[in-house]
Amino acid sequence: MEKITLHDKTFKPFIPYEKISAAIDAVAEKINKDFEGSEEAPVLLCVLNGSILFTAELMKRLTFNCELVSMKLSSYVGTQSTGAVRQIMGLSGSVTGKSVIIIEDIVDTGNTIVDLMNIVKAYGAKEAKVCTMLLKPEVYKKDVKLDYVGMEIPNAFIVGFGLDYDELGRNYKDIYVIDDGKEE
Ligand code: IMP
Repeated sequence: MEKITLHDKTFKPFIPYEKISAAIDAVAEKINKDFEGSEEAPVLLCVLNGSILFTAELMKRLTFNCELVSMKLSSYVGTQSTGAVRQIMGLSGSVTGKSVIIIEDIVDTGNTIVDLMNIVKAYGAKEAKVCTMLLKPEVYKKDVKLDYVGMEIPNAFIVGFGLDYDELGRNYKDIYVIDDGKEE
């Protein structure tokens, strides 16, 4: 795997697609166990844009009936969280009275997940679970339970597999980390 350049920054290979795929297999198995045989179809809530690739890969592995709703939020500018989560596009469908599985690409400060929980509850969801592909445990200090976590990573800025640096980098199937110039 080669380094990539996005805008003014270079990123080096960090997590190959094979590892991401195995982590999604494991998460899907847990969700399938929890939701198999449930009478109503739960709603997967894809948080645009970062979760698109993860949601697509996860959905293909789910073996129970489910719906898909999306919404668009934004909190990052460049490589930093602004702390304020902006709602760019509201819920694309109803979650009222339904079980919701919120699908996030990454949980960092947790501001987004706290907001999402509040939004989903305000719209009258019966229950809400959280599924995130990645978690930065050194940064996450909120109380919202993260029911399904694909992988834990250190506190570093990453791109690829849906994640972006100012909108570039989402298309790469592997995950890359910002290159600080230090050798491993
Ligand atoms: P939080 O609200 O701080 O938990 O951040 C959540 C959102 O910030 C994620 O859904 C991503 O869109 C973005 N984000 C957090 N960390 C990274 C990163 O390392 N690279 C790219 N985007 C990130």
